[in-house]
Amino acid sequence: MRLILLGPPGAGKGTQASGIIKKYDIPHISTGDIFRKNIKEGTDLGKKAKEYMDKGLLVPDELVVAIVKDRLTEDDCKKGFLLDGFPRTVAQADALDKELSNLGHSLDNVINIDVPKEALIERAVGRRICKDCGATFHTKFNPPKKEGVCDVCGGDLYQRDDDTAETVTKRIEVYQEQTRPLIDYYNKKGIVLDIDGAQDIEKVFEDIVNRLESDA
Ligand code: AP5
Ligand code: MG
Ligand code: ZN
Repeated sequence: MRLILLGPPGAGKGTQASGIIKKYDIPHISTGDIFRKNIKEGTDLGKKAKEYMDKGLLVPDELVVAIVKDRLTEDDCKKGFLLDGFPRTVAQADALDKELSNLGHSLDNVINIDVPKEALIERAVGRRICKDCGATFHTKFNPPKKEGVCDVCGGDLYQRDDDTAETVTKRIEVYQEQTRPLIDYYNKKGIVLDIDGAQDIEKVFEDIVNRLESDA
């Protein structure tokens, strides 16, 4: 299965990705996670990306496209993939199309998770992530059993640098301007599954699976 997860910051892309990749046994490719890993390791790519991410802006297309192209040629992508947070501009979507047709593949579905703006800020600001395994929690909506500690591996939880109310507001604006047009872009191809993301995490997952299976 070749899938894209589309949706504004804090919509629940990462949260839903963890269930989807388990169920369909496909790799999770999150460009945001790739950048954060590079920032942590202090690579040149990480340094460049951080300048944009801290301001809530998109990293330039050339950088992102090169990374995803490379990643898609790895062996585990032969069985499919779930792209999370890519593409985010029409130029990225065009580049993806081209790369997939070079590889002789096409997209199956775009899962478009929609959540009203007011809820997005609360979700992002309360998000906590495990520094060891990347599991995602929320102080109110999905709290860990013990505050500040990961349920999965016992690692410490941290808050993303770009999860302040101010930066999240900017990220939502950038989404509206640069990423939202992709809904139309993929609607023209007839592959968008619209999902109501303003429900419980479990219900959103159930809807995604039902839609994927009725569309297959
Ligand atoms: P990225 O890491 O992709 O961030 P994002 O798109 O802003 O999305 P988030 O990760 O913030 O949200 P999410 O939808 O994954 O929500 P989550 O599941 O965690 O990108 C970061 C930055 O990297 C960008 O700003 C940009 O600078 C750069 N970048 C990345 N890709 C790029 C690209 N292609 N081009 C250019 N630049 C790029 O959930 C959020 C919180 O809500 C969690 O706490 C969760 O527990 C909670 N939650 C989830 N679902 C629910 C629910 N149903 N009910 C209640 N709470 C919920
Ligand atoms: Mg995410
Ligand atoms: Zn953990």
